[in-house]
Amino acid sequence: MLVHVLADTSEKLFGLCSLFGEQFTVAGERLDVEAKLPHDGAAVVVRVDLRALDNIAALKKRAARLAKAKKRIFLVEQISHVCISQAYALGATSVLPGKIDAAKLLAALADPVGHGTGPTSGISQPDNAVDAAATAIASMFTSITLGERVDIAGPKEAGRKITNRISEHGLTEWLATVRRHHEGTFQHCLLVTGVAVDFGVSLGFRKSDLERLSTAAMFHDIGKARVPLAILDKPGRLDEDERALVATHPAAGYDVLQGHLDISPEVLDAVRHHHEYLDGSGYPDGLCAENITDIVRVLTIADIFAALIEHRPYKPTMPRAAAYEILCGMRGKLDRVLVASFKPVALTR
Ligand SMILES: [Fe+2]
Ligand SMILES: [Fe+2]
Repeated sequence: MLVHVLADTSEKLFGLCSLFGEQFTVAGERLDVEAKLPHDGAAVVVRVDLRALDNIAALKKRAARLAKAKKRIFLVEQISHVCISQAYALGATSVLPGKIDAAKLLAALADPVGHGTGPTSGISQPDNAVDAAATAIASMFTSITLGERVDIAGPKEAGRKITNRISEHGLTEWLATVRRHHEGTFQHCLLVTGVAVDFGVSLGFRKSDLERLSTAAMFHDIGKARVPLAILDKPGRLDEDERALVATHPAAGYDVLQGHLDISPEVLDAVRHHHEYLDGSGYPDGLCAENITDIVRVLTIADIFAALIEHRPYKPTMPRAAAYEILCGMRGKLDRVLVASFKPVALTR
């Protein structure tokens, strides 16, 4: 396999080229010289400081050629929303954050089932839904962090692709694929959308309601872009101040989206109220049952379930049956009839 290495300094370039040289044919390129990468079918490894606007501009100039690579692995030096989401927005098929881990990197390159890998004829259709959704979520987070207007069409389209993918391959396959390739907050958004869509399908939602639900799920945690990643992805329990900061996200998401004409009132309502409980103990508005719509009730169940079954590096993944038991135990907070209807989605679909 041919591996192209793209870096913003000679030191990084030489370091990566010598790392890969023993196992692969390597071609290196510095970001500030003429754009020539990559050839069709190659893998690309990018190690560039994504905080520098010049670097982002140089990568965007290479976007069309970069897109020809089956694997586009970005090594992100600074673990921040901006850098990780920027990498996905620039076309990364996987992002390895933090210090360069040679073993992990070589495994990612050698992995035949890896994200964005496949026959040389092109990236297979199923992975398109994951790529499109991850990129859409990343772009949303980037836009908010940079104070730019949020793209509405991208996440909506990604929600449709997830719906198609789940209709074709089922929820279990979606959960496994997402958990294999994404971590933390992005993984959560992808899982919630998949679970919510499958729940909507099982409830016999009309196409228009299903579309509202998938859009609401894609956007539901967009307000988390205003919360530091170090808190969102912190292993273990949050302290009181951190919890209070995280709890601002539904209202923050509502504020971000409310000026957009393309966002329906139902979606806006779902973003603001996905942490409300029927007994009035939720937030931000402490709504009671009569003010919580069906789409919100469905989304809340999908959100809690997805959070429980997420794959986190520091804790074992909770089995789906155990997560469903927890939902059943939340009496008074969740819609009992809906929780009962959720059983086949949780356990078997
Ligand atoms: Fe949330
Ligand atoms: Fe959530």
